[in-house]
Amino acid sequence: MKHIVIYPGTFDPITNGHIDVLERAVNLFDEVIVAVLTNPSKTPLFTVKERIDLITQIVQNQERVRIESFSGLLVEFAERAGAQAIIRGLRAISDFEYEFQMALVNRKINSKLTTVFLMPNEKYTYLNSTIVKELASFGGKISDFVPEIAEKALKKKFFSK
Ligand code: PNS
Repeated sequence: MKHIVIYPGTFDPITNGHIDVLERAVNLFDEVIVAVLTNPSKTPLFTVKERIDLITQIVQNQERVRIESFSGLLVEFAERAGAQAIIRGLRAISDFEYEFQMALVNRKINSKLTTVFLMPNEKYTYLNSTIVKELASFGGKISDFVPEIAEKALKKKFFSK
């Protein structure tokens, strides 16, 4: 049986912390579907297409990674994709409550779907896309936090007319 896992998120944009979690997931499962949320209630900096393009360039034809967008319930997307599990990164205790709630709601909807938490390298504990965007918007150094392609895309968003 092929073990398929969904790695869902907003990825606005993908950070080195996300990539660390993705690499760990690739080592554990046969196929990882990076699922980029199309969420009309959020106003992301990057369009879904831009976020997918960035991830595609960064992941670069890794055979066992697929990148897709989804809207609606994650559980339903996971079912359609034939996935048995959902990956979420867990950085710190502060992540726990929200992640715990989401995992339990998803399990309530579909008891066969397991959420697996992976801890990224501790150097990414404090890192998230929001902080990276804030730093980038003020011209701060972000090269330690995002791949070069994402760094360039952020600079373009904030500083080119
Ligand atoms: O990167 P994020 O913003 O922390 O990812 C959140 C995400 C996309 C995993 C979550 O918002 C989600 O699954 N949204 C889809 C709607 C859904 O299924 N909600 C029920 C879960 S409680």
